[in-house]
This record gives sequence, structure tokens and C-alpha cells, in this order.
Amino acid sequence: MRRKHPVNEKWSWVIAVCATLSVVEIPTRLVLHYPPGLLLECLDWLITAVYVIDLLLHLRYAGWLPGISLARGQTMPVPYSKWWLIADLLAAIPFRVLPVPAPLQLLRLLKLARVGQTMHYWRQRAVQSANFLRLLFFMYWLMLLTHCAACGWLALRGLPPEFDKTTHYVRAIYYSITTLATVGYGDITPTTSPQMLYAMALMILGAGVYSYVIANVATILANIDPAKVRYREMVEKLSAFMRYRNIPSDLQQRILDYNAYLWEKRLGYDESAAIAGLPPSLRAEVSMFLNREIIEKVPLFKGASEDFIRAVAMEMRPVIFTPGDYIMRAGEPGSEMYFISRGRVEIVSADGKTVYATLGAGDFFGEMALLFHQRRTASARAAEYCDLYMLEKGTFDNILLRFPDFDSHLHTVAGKRQDGNTEMIRRAAIAKE
Ligand code: CMP
Repeated sequence: MRRKHPVNEKWSWVIAVCATLSVVEIPTRLVLHYPPGLLLECLDWLITAVYVIDLLLHLRYAGWLPGISLARGQTMPVPYSKWWLIADLLAAIPFRVLPVPAPLQLLRLLKLARVGQTMHYWRQRAVQSANFLRLLFFMYWLMLLTHCAACGWLALRGLPPEFDKTTHYVRAIYYSITTLATVGYGDITPTTSPQMLYAMALMILGAGVYSYVIANVATILANIDPAKVRYREMVEKLSAFMRYRNIPSDLQQRILDYNAYLWEKRLGYDESAAIAGLPPSLRAEVSMFLNREIIEKVPLFKGASEDFIRAVAMEMRPVIFTPGDYIMRAGEPGSEMYFISRGRVEIVSADGKTVYATLGAGDFFGEMALLFHQRRTASARAAEYCDLYMLEKGTFDNILLRFPDFDSHLHTVAGKRQDGNTEMIRRAAIAKE
């Protein structure tokens, strides 16, 4: 089910930007003691206003504001726990202008929990890029961690007068990165016990963070394109098997070409298997979408009823033939008919020498054996890579019963083809005499 955002997607990004600005600005100001200029003052008031509005919005969505009804289009109150209420409330208080200890301003960073909530929501929603988002969000937290660790270090170390504020910050970031990465070049070293304890805590944290990175980045990168990974694995296994069983090299090449074609056209997915687990109504819709190309190409489907197209689309199975493959042989019993989506198919005599017709995208064949309950009247050979859709006899018979128009159209085409062939054979026999 598509998850709905508890308040509003765009608004949650506004909160995320405000929380990020706060986490960058407040700790830096507290440790570097720079006076807040007009711009920062305005920014702080703006963030306060945004957080107060956010608090009110949540109270409204939760139905906690007396005398105010729920938001438009909202049927049920959105649960609002007391912990969220406390966090939102503390973050909204402008401690900077109140006569309280300065570190209380850090309570504004509680709003980062909302950023975590928004990221969680987006990772669940953007399924296709979930891995990419995971990496991106992780980098975001890592940067904030590095910044906060640097500010913590400055708070412990103090600001010796030999450097200006920018140099202090750059050195602290350098220290924080080298310690978190457990590289520690030793050019900036802790001297007091609290500094050493801080450095050890950072190193332990860093070890955890970097083992997480190493363990996850490879998986994340591999999962960015799982279909390609699966395809490569399959090709490697197949190649090893073919080498092991000494399959002739031209046959090996054909097998690999076939798989490459399958990959290029369908990313190696077996479409029928991929949608088999869906409920019938959803499967019908997906089938219609997946088979829209063939439905648009086959003249027989043009102007046909929605019911008919749906019935056929649900039952057609995609199959691929490589150049030179025999799709059917004359004289065999027939159990399916085909629609051509891509490629050319030659209809040939039993010995393969006489070409009766060459069919292309939008044509169909194999209907005669099913209609007249007889053996195949001709062979069909793929002249190039062919994407076909197959309709099995059982389904074909059902569809004929349900849609008489389809039945009569097929009878007309099949009759003409049969007459044409008879005529061709007669002429060939006369020519021989
Ligand atoms: P079927 O006899 O089941 O199997 C061979 C198929 O080739 C046949 O059905 C027709 O669909 C098709 N076919 C036979 N002759 C022709 C033709 N002259 N033109 C186009 N298709 C043909």
C-alpha cells in the first residue's frame, strides 16, 4: 500500500533544511563564540517560526487543538506520541534569547529526529532508488557526525590564541576525520584525560561507522542494479557449464547471444513468472501494459473490445527465437499459435526450400492446426531474432467460444492462406511436369 506522509512531503523537507542549518550553526557558534550577525539572528527566528508552525500542524493533524477540526481530506487523526510532542516543543523554544545556559540551545537539534523520520519515509516510498538513498542519507549523517565531533573537540580543547577561528575549525574537522577513520596521524594529540577519553570514544565510534561503511557499500553498489548482477552470475555459470561439457564453440556463442538478446530486451526477466503471484485484476492490468506493444501492432486487435484484448493479453506468453530456429515443423500436431512482436518469420515447405510467405511484426501464424484440428500445414522459421507471443490451444479455444468475431476473422485468414498454398503447390507440380 502506498504510504501517506503524516503531514506533508514538501513541509518535511523544509523541516529537514532547518534542522540541518541548526546542527551546523548552533554547535559552531557555541564553541567558536562568534557574535550572531543580523543574518543569523533572522535565520534563527525563521527556524523558530517554522518549528512552532510544525508543532501546531502536528497538533492539528492529531486532532489535539481544541475547537479546530482535522485538516482537509483527513478522515482519521494522525497519532502523535508524547515523546514527539516533547521533542517538537523543546526544539521550538528560542533558548538563544532566554536567560538560560547556552548549551540548552542544543535542544534545537532534537528536530534531527524528524529528518530521520523523513528519510525513513522516502526510503520506503522510493523503492527503485532505495539503495542509492540509503547511501546518500548515510553520507549525510556521517558529515553531521564529523562536524559535531569537531565541535566537541573544540569545546574540550579550547581556542589557543595562535590560530584564527577558521583555522581552529579546519583543524578540528581534520582531527575529527582522522580520529573517526582511526587513522590518527599524531600531529594533533589529546593531552588531558577528558581529551583522551573523547578521542577513544571517537575512535570506537569511528571503527563502528567505518565497518558499517565497508560492510554496506559493496552490498549497496551491488544492489543498485540487481538485474545486472543476476545476469552476470547467470552468464558466468552458463559459460562454466558449457566449457565443462565441451559444448561446441559456435553453439556456445549462440547460447550467449540468446541470453544477451534476452537481457537487452527484457533485462533477463521471465515476465510471466514475475507477475504470476499477483491477484488476477492486477495481473490483467500489468499484462495489458507489458503486452501493449504487441496489442498495438496486431491489426486484429485494433478496434477489438476491451474484454477481448484483456482476455488475450492475460494469456499470451512471450517467447524468443534465434535466427534459423524452427518455431514449428510441417506435419507436427499443433498446440499453440503465435503473434509476432518483433522480427521476421518465414513460412516454408516441409523441406524448408520453398518460402510461402515472410511474416513480420503484427502478423500471426499457427492458427490453422488449431482451427481445423489438423497437423501443421507448413514450417515456420525465424529469419532473425524474433519476439513472439504464444497463445496455447486451451486458451485459444476458450477465446474462440467467447469472441465469435475473432473466430470468423481467423477462419477467413486461414482459408485464404490454405487456398494460396494449394494454388502454389498446384503450380509447382505443373511446372515440374
Ligand atoms: P498451421 O498450419 O497451424 O502451422 C503453419 C502455419 O503457417 C499455418 O498454421 C499458418 O498460420 C501459417 N501459414 C501457412 N501458409 C501461409 C501463407 N501462405 N501465408 C502466411 N502464413 C501461412
